[in-house]
Amino acid sequence: MGAFSTLLSGLALAASIGMASARKCQNITIPVSISARNGVFNVAVPQNNIDVTNLMLNMAKQESNYTAAVLTGYATVSGAYDLATTFCEPDMGAGKVLQILTHGVGFDRGYWDIPLNNYNYSYVETAVDQYGFTTLSWDRLGIGMSEHGEPVNEIQAFLEIAALKAVTRLARTQKLPGVAQGRRFDKIVHVGHSFGSIQSYALARDEPSLSDGLILTGFSANGTFLPFFQLGGNFVSVTSVPAAASQYVAGYLAAGNPSAVQTNFFAPGAFDPAALDFAYKTSQPVSVGELFTIVGAAGGVNNFPGPVLVITGERDVPFCGGDCLATGGNPSLASIPAAVKNAFPVSRRFESFIVPGAGHGLNFEYSKDITYQHISQFLLLSGLG
Ligand SMILES: *[C@@H]1O[C@H](CO)[C@@H](O)[C@H](O)[C@H]1NC(C)=O
Ligand SMILES: *[C@@H]1O[C@H](CO)[C@@H](O)[C@H](O)[C@H]1NC(C)=O
Ligand SMILES: *[C@@H]1O[C@H](CO)[C@@H](O)[C@H](O)[C@H]1NC(C)=O
Ligand SMILES: *[C@@H]1O[C@H](CO)[C@@H](O)[C@H](O)[C@H]1NC(C)=O
Repeated sequence: MGAFSTLLSGLALAASIGMASARKCQNITIPVSISARNGVFNVAVPQNNIDVTNLMLNMAKQESNYTAAVLTGYATVSGAYDLATTFCEPDMGAGKVLQILTHGVGFDRGYWDIPLNNYNYSYVETAVDQYGFTTLSWDRLGIGMSEHGEPVNEIQAFLEIAALKAVTRLARTQKLPGVAQGRRFDKIVHVGHSFGSIQSYALARDEPSLSDGLILTGFSANGTFLPFFQLGGNFVSVTSVPAAASQYVAGYLAAGNPSAVQTNFFAPGAFDPAALDFAYKTSQPVSVGELFTIVGAAGGVNNFPGPVLVITGERDVPFCGGDCLATGGNPSLASIPAAVKNAFPVSRRFESFIVPGAGHGLNFEYSKDITYQHISQFLLLSGLG
């Protein structure tokens, strides 16, 4: 038994040395002091699965806005928080362009560097090894190994966006801690998935000079279909999930089973069952405060002047209702995500791209290489390579 486990760890070490020769990654804890104008919600923290389902039924009700119904006002929330991040650069040294990667609901920063099939699904591998980018992925504030918080009135989109801005400012002023200290980047690009795209969108809208390019994956400007996600996720209280219960308090909601993750993130015929299994086993919860503020954080005209790529799976559920090409009453619109162009009146380059047959969880599907290559090529064509 002892010899066997020694052999196994030796193999794991050999494998990780093999990977390290392709790119250098380091985990860095980034402390930030931030404040934001958060919503104040008068709602009881859901304590059990019945409470959670009741909340979802209230949120998904047609022709109503539960967020508005329970919003009593706004208050400034401030704090010092530790963020868990991973910094990766090419073997040859730091690339000139830094990509800041923000994951969506249901995942942590591991979404960008999935180890399945010897990292064959890794976005970071493509960006760093093939294209020479440097990447910084972070667990969003409140999620994964970043500091958690009170799940209704503290961990909301607004405070998380403040955290993303703070990290970006540190990168711009060469003040990232650890191995990244002093690294100078010519350009900084923001890449998001889903809720991470919304946060990247908000950063560029609020402070256009903080970003040089936006890649919004799993995204559209159409909130009509979010209730599909709210109901499809079969959400339960994280306190009822043995693997996560010790890490989170009530008020964080987890996917109820693998089928819930499949419904919201995986398109029919587009994935390896092992990828679904991995996505479920490593899935992360969402806070009630995040769910209340997802739509509100995404609004407004965006006067970001840099290049913008929206890239979404054809069968995306939350942002396209399962068909991005069904543009209903607007036959002149090529796809639902194509309408995002209207939100960027001064972007010097805008493209929307639909990944054929893919679902919302682009990085976990067979089509991932189409997604990854399209993103890197877009950045090169935009002078950000
Ligand atoms: C970074 O932290 C994650 C989560 O603990 C771990 O899986 C990964 O191996 C670490 N990576 C490095 C390069 O240390
Ligand atoms: C619901 O209300 C909130 C708070 O007023 C607002 O930010 C959000 O945009 C509204 N949602 C929709 C879908 O209109
Ligand atoms: C969202 O997309 C659907 C389907 O194409 C369309 O009917 C609806 O008008 C769109 N809503 C908005 C706000 O664009
Ligand atoms: C990596 O993914 C591609 C595209 O899905 C596939 O063709 C290839 O066989 C995979 N390689 C490995 C080692 O799994």
